Amino acid sequence: EAGALWGGRFASGPSPALAALSKSTQFDWVLADYDIRGSKAHATALAEAGYLTADELREMRAGLDELAARVADGSAVPAEDDEDVHSALERLLIDIVGVQLGGKLRAGRSRNDQIATLVRLYLLDHTAIIRGMLLDLLDALAEQAGKHPEAILPGRTHLQHAQPVLLAHQIAAHAWPIVRDLERLRDWSVRASASPYGGGALAGSSLGLDPRVVADELGLGEPLENSIDGTAARDVIAEFAYICAQIGIDLSRLSEEIIIWNTKEFGFVRLHDGYSTGSSIMPQKKNPDIAELARGKSGRLIGNLTGLLATLKGMPLAYNRDLQEDKEPVFDSVSQLEVLLPAFTGMVATMSFDTERMAALAPQGFSLATDVAEWLVKQGVIFRDAHEISGELVRYCEERGIELHEPSDEEFLTVSEHLTPGVRDVLTIEGSVNSRTGAGGTARVRVDEQLARLAERIAEF
Ligand code: ARG
Repeated sequence: EAGALWGGRFASGPSPALAALSKSTQFDWVLADYDIRGSKAHATALAEAGYLTADELREMRAGLDELAARVADGSAVPAEDDEDVHSALERLLIDIVGVQLGGKLRAGRSRNDQIATLVRLYLLDHTAIIRGMLLDLLDALAEQAGKHPEAILPGRTHLQHAQPVLLAHQIAAHAWPIVRDLERLRDWSVRASASPYGGGALAGSSLGLDPRVVADELGLGEPLENSIDGTAARDVIAEFAYICAQIGIDLSRLSEEIIIWNTKEFGFVRLHDGYSTGSSIMPQKKNPDIAELARGKSGRLIGNLTGLLATLKGMPLAYNRDLQEDKEPVFDSVSQLEVLLPAFTGMVATMSFDTERMAALAPQGFSLATDVAEWLVKQGVIFRDAHEISGELVRYCEERGIELHEPSDEEFLTVSEHLTPGVRDVLTIEGSVNSRTGAGGTARVRVDEQLARLAERIAEF
């Protein structure tokens, strides 16, 4: 077989069925440019160790540059019988520099240490893209929060009315998980920047090559301490898949709120036409498909993670071909996020809120009952009793089909002697919200501080 990287000990080439099974160029060709960069660095390491002359190094690196140009313009592509990106590139390099020189490059390295390095490089680059997209989303969330400094909506637990909260507080609650996702990507990048190159197949190289030369030229950090670990471990890839899944989950939880808020029954939010879809049969329909796709894709992102973890579980060290299965799931996670995030951010940036409807619903469902109880505590009533009294007031109102602020002063007193007219001060949603001045609370002063802090955190990344 013309381009194979192995074959000496084989009497025949691979059967067509094996070749079809084994082949990975359909998904690993995206690593071609990283492979070539690794090769250029490796050539330098070979030259420093005396395996290439200065002229050979120059010719090799120029040949690799030419190869990179051909890959970029599409004139160098994998052939039908190339097994993987590494085999294809060696064949294509030999087309350029000849076999006498091109045949020297593979000394002292293995596809096992190469592939472990290349996937890291690919994911590090895409991390920068995803980081930019997450920052755009954070900007959109921060802007929506800033646009509605006073709007109040019914805060929920168990999807039931719980306590009124500022809309800005609710929106910012979706921003902080994204800030943590950015922290995760930043932390991950440090671990991902260690370099497996130089580990060879599993045992390291006998040629006296300096792995730092390759790591430095690739912009990576320290070479890994253990060549078996470097070629066999994929925890860094799994961790990346986890971060993608977590991002998906964070988008999905916001999506679910948008989908619910967008129903006729809630009517809290309206989506821009450019970020909504219609129905092929129902002319009136306007659907929140972006939010639904985000919710759906989060399942796919979780699947990419769990599939990879299942592949890794129970695999002995060092390299096993199972590890070829690491790439498609994480590449998919990358491309799903990169297609989802711009649409998602567009939807968030352009949605508009019906703040009057939110405010009208916020006091309903006895959502100020906690305020009554806490007001009673401030009057000196112990909390157990205050909770009981407020609960009785809820029952009194529920039986009569009225809200908490509607009883007369006399009626309040029939529920409890402690319910003097002063309680009316906390029976407004503004009074309730602005009383929650504790750290991280929904009072306007705290939320203003929070949004300022959020802007600082966004500027950090
Ligand atoms: N294509 C392989 C992978 O993605 C790398 C090549 C290693 N192959 C081998 N037979 N050792 O993991």
